[in-house]
Amino acid sequence: MTHILDIKDLVTNFYTYEGVVKALNKVSFHVNHGSTFGLVGESGCGKSVTVRSIMQIVQSPGVIEGGEIHFSPDSDNGETGIDLLKQTERFMQDLRGNKISMIFQEPNAALNPIMTIGEQIAESYVFHRKNQIIEKILGLDRTGENLFPKVSANPLFLPLYHLALHRPDAFLLELIKKVPFLRNWDRAVLHTAIEKSVELLATLGIPNPDKIVHQYPHNLSGGMKQRVVIAIALASEPVLLIADEATSNLDVTVQAQILDLLKDLKKKNIISSILLITHDLGVVNETCDRVGVMYAGNLCEVGKVTDLFENPKHPYTKALLDSVPKIRQIGDLKSIAGNVPNLVNPPLGCRFHPRCGHAMAKCKEVFPEMTIVDDDHEVACYLYH
Ligand SMILES: Nc1ncnc2c1ncn2[C@@H]1O[C@H](COP(=O)(O)OP(=O)(O)OP(=O)(O)O)[C@@H](O)[C@H]1O
Ligand SMILES: [Mg+2]
Repeated sequence: MTHILDIKDLVTNFYTYEGVVKALNKVSFHVNHGSTFGLVGESGCGKSVTVRSIMQIVQSPGVIEGGEIHFSPDSDNGETGIDLLKQTERFMQDLRGNKISMIFQEPNAALNPIMTIGEQIAESYVFHRKNQIIEKILGLDRTGENLFPKVSANPLFLPLYHLALHRPDAFLLELIKKVPFLRNWDRAVLHTAIEKSVELLATLGIPNPDKIVHQYPHNLSGGMKQRVVIAIALASEPVLLIADEATSNLDVTVQAQILDLLKDLKKKNIISSILLITHDLGVVNETCDRVGVMYAGNLCEVGKVTDLFENPKHPYTKALLDSVPKIRQIGDLKSIAGNVPNLVNPPLGCRFHPRCGHAMAKCKEVFPEMTIVDDDHEVACYLYH
């Protein structure tokens, strides 16, 4: 099976006044084409920094300092894909909200309060197709070679061409505002985009989508807003959807509805692959095919959800599973003794060793590399070396 995403030895540090926060310490895992991968772990273990590193939107003072992030949008070309860490910012801008879409915990932050729902979905739809649109309008091909002769002869249009080639988003906005002879054409595109938005909202189970497209975010409930955010993310037809705690802020019932919706969209092939970040093991069990468990900036175990839940290997994974309430809970819940380490001065060796009942001398010295324990099941622990 090919990997849509293959992450190797990812290192991200934050240079703070208190010292260097070693947030990601050589994190490696892959996401299979057409599957849902879950990333779990306690608060502060580095889940968000991992996905922000993939998208290269790590907040200052964070710096990605090592590793490879191979992205292969095509499932059948068998290539290793492009290393996102070697691409330009311009390339990444084109990728974000396009081939890879990301949804966050807080829908309000992702929605523009002064644009209608329809306009926001339509914007995503139009921008995704900006290259085709620009080609159509200016007769301009992607390399800028094939200029439409009459227009290109006009020096007044040169700045427009320049903008179209180098900043297509800004170009489209300028165009929509300024060029009167394109208004009708532009309206036709927007009309299709709004129709598409209504369709998408209906797919996402939003009642009366033709009315909702004309409403503003403040008219909607939290669950509805998160559906709209998903609609915006899907309007660009991404091959990979990254959801970072996208349902954590919602009521349990609404959360279940959104997760069911994601599963359904995957079944219908509307989304191909999903990277789901959560601290909820129940959510992973319900939605994911494979899972990675993180602890203090390390990936300690990765494998199929069924294997990892039925036969956890890493002492941290076992402790994490023991701390989840069961339906027929017998006895008290077990909490994990000790505290999550400070990542400015993380413990040497395995970062979990101060809290681990099995810690040996070498666990305190050298970080254990990942070892294969079973088919598609790896663990970073000396108990299995
Ligand atoms: N802007 C920042 N400045 C300094 N340190 C940061 C910054 N952002 C993240 N970190 C550190 O990186 C580590 C990982 O943070 P991250 O946000 O990835 O955790 P998380 O697993 O997503 O947690 P949660 O479940 O709470 O969302 C934390 O120790 C955090 O302190
Ligand atoms: Mg987070």
